[in-house]
Amino acid sequence: MRTLPLHRRDIPVSTLVLGCMGFGGKDWFDQGPLTAEQIKQGREAVDAALSIGINMFDHANIYKSGKAEQVFGEILKEQKSLRDKIFIQSKCGIRFADDKAPFTRFDFSEENILQTVEGSLSRLGIDYMDFLLLHRPDPLVDPEEVASAFRKLKDAGKVRWFGVSNMSAAQMKLLQKYLDVPIVVNQLELSLYHHNWVDASINLNQAPAADDIFPEGTIEYCRMEDIQIQSWGSLAQGLYTGRALDNEPDTVKATAKKVQDYANQKGTTREAIVLAWLLKHPAGIQPVIGTTNPERIRACGEATRIELTREEWYDLWITARGKGMP
Ligand SMILES: NC(=O)c1ccc[n+]([C@@H]2O[C@H](COP(=O)([O-])OP(=O)(O)OC[C@H]3O[C@@H](n4cnc5c(N)ncnc54)[C@H](OP(=O)(O)O)[C@@H]3O)[C@@H](O)[C@H]2O)c1
Repeated sequence: MRTLPLHRRDIPVSTLVLGCMGFGGKDWFDQGPLTAEQIKQGREAVDAALSIGINMFDHANIYKSGKAEQVFGEILKEQKSLRDKIFIQSKCGIRFADDKAPFTRFDFSEENILQTVEGSLSRLGIDYMDFLLLHRPDPLVDPEEVASAFRKLKDAGKVRWFGVSNMSAAQMKLLQKYLDVPIVVNQLELSLYHHNWVDASINLNQAPAADDIFPEGTIEYCRMEDIQIQSWGSLAQGLYTGRALDNEPDTVKATAKKVQDYANQKGTTREAIVLAWLLKHPAGIQPVIGTTNPERIRACGEATRIELTREEWYDLWITARGKGMP
């Protein structure tokens, strides 16, 4: 396991982050009031996360159209001392269909960033959030507007640190040229299943596969600038940890078996193996886990107690790729 770039900035976040996208029920657009069952589910997930040492929680204004943040706000009301012990991260910039447009689009305008943060703080019932991420690149972004929004949020004490998500090195460099605060986080889809980010590092002069689309230099730029890489989809949505695999390709079935075998050999959980594969990478990845199931959350906690050997890491990667090294 590696030192997290956020630790090098003296920000004592946990190695794992609980992703709260699953809070607030199954229906993304249900406008009804929160239910006691939704709050209970969130509370049990948060308690399980705290029990394994997680102190960082990932949100976005859009998760369940705001209900995920509302659930978390209810938990913070119940446990008043919790706020000061944890790091809360949220995101802005995705707009679903609304009264202005009947489709999803991205919006990094100053007005939208500022309004979104106000909405998140209000739903969470807090005065400040620790991290604010730009959720998905907006092709119409004006970096000077983002810089102005970030400056206002920082000066008002509403956001402590800033980051991005799903951005390439080139996009981060452009933005950083205008910002007077550092980009400290980039959240990307990275997992043993979604492994094109590692494949990209060995593809020089090789004929690329159809899904070799990871932007070159992104991981390296984050490492050079001490930007915390967070992985979303870290558990591959359960593909290697117990989900039914009847309709999955042979590579997925073979990888799931390897994960199980290593878990048996090491006396640990499948979740730990899948996450330990991410933690072995020298970038110091901080996995965001999206399960709301307390048992699975606790199973993830084992990841920080084991370490894969170089050979085990390659074995899992090669099996998931379905082909060996060039
Ligand atoms: N930045 C972005 O663009 C972005 C995009 C997506 C997500 N995120 C963040 O990243 C977090 C994690 O992402 P994720 O939820 O996509 O990925 P994940 O952690 O790989 O998967 C979690 C999902 O898989 C299910 N799951 C896990 N293990 C399972 C198993 N053994 N059997 C059946 N289902 C299983 C979970 O259901 P249960 O709850 O029932 O366990 C949950 O729905 C999210 O919560 C969110 O905070 C960010």
